[in-house]
Amino acid sequence: MKFKGKDIISIRDFTKEEIEKILDEAEKMEAALAKNTNLELLKGKILATLFFEPSTRTRLSFATAMQKLGGNVIGFDNVEATSIAKGESLIDTVRTAEKYCDLIVIRHPKEGSARLAAEISEKPVINAGDGANQHPTQTLLDLYTIRKLKGRIEGLNVALVGDLKYGRVMKSLAYALAMFKANLTLVSPLGLELPEEITKEIIEKFDAEIIQTDNIFSGIKNADVIYVCRIQKERFEDVYEAEKLQKSFKITSQMLEKTKEDVIILHALPKTVEIEPSIDKTKKAKYFEQVYYGIPVRMAIINLVCP
Ligand code: NCD
Repeated sequence: MKFKGKDIISIRDFTKEEIEKILDEAEKMEAALAKNTNLELLKGKILATLFFEPSTRTRLSFATAMQKLGGNVIGFDNVEATSIAKGESLIDTVRTAEKYCDLIVIRHPKEGSARLAAEISEKPVINAGDGANQHPTQTLLDLYTIRKLKGRIEGLNVALVGDLKYGRVMKSLAYALAMFKANLTLVSPLGLELPEEITKEIIEKFDAEIIQTDNIFSGIKNADVIYVCRIQKERFEDVYEAEKLQKSFKITSQMLEKTKEDVIILHALPKTVEIEPSIDKTKKAKYFEQVYYGIPVRMAIINLVCP
């Protein structure tokens, strides 16, 4: 297992053992955070966050994680305030950023952009979301959350609910859950199913058993974990179509009454209307606890890969 200097572009870059190692390291980070231990593991190191797309949790938790490790953060989250607005290419932006830092975190609307950045940069690159493709560090924190709250991943019934066509969070997560032998139910509106090549891949690689439905009610009935994502309207040609789909595809408190008593609901956030607001206060809703785990998990990731 070699992490130092490694790029993290896709969840496919990891073996199950490597993922378990990251989760174990994250446990240690969480314990250190709880004790308020002053970690100076990355003193003098610099993380660059290059965000070409909006973000709240991913960027803030990466920055918090780096600072908790004793390192510093540079970067941008508004391309209009950078030379990209003058026409500079992604390639030249990465060539520049890598001269200033030890590690790059990038989010970009184009699929494959993080891989391209990793090819250009001598410094490790972490993909914080490339278009509708991948979001591997979100998946690591999702697995951490599930393991923490449910004690295991294997054998759990997990319902992935929402836009599985454009949701990068769901694509990374479906792969990892199949790797960990969870039972997957894919619940999406018609036309927003998980792309067939991914379903095929995880069945072939992991012998995964998958149920697919467009009916939320039946899809979540037997779930131990309900993982929801919003319709990714920014990736639609017709935003009106996305909003229409979202209005008819949501989890209501009435639906929840018929689910398992100890089911947990997770969401990468941001959420719009896909979860009825009254659900936030129930003990089933764990998404704001999940948010917190972004810090120890990203601390573990940064600490493992930072040269
Ligand atoms: C997600 C993303 O950007 O892919 N958010 C996140 O990173 N926590 C989910 C989304 O935007 O729907």
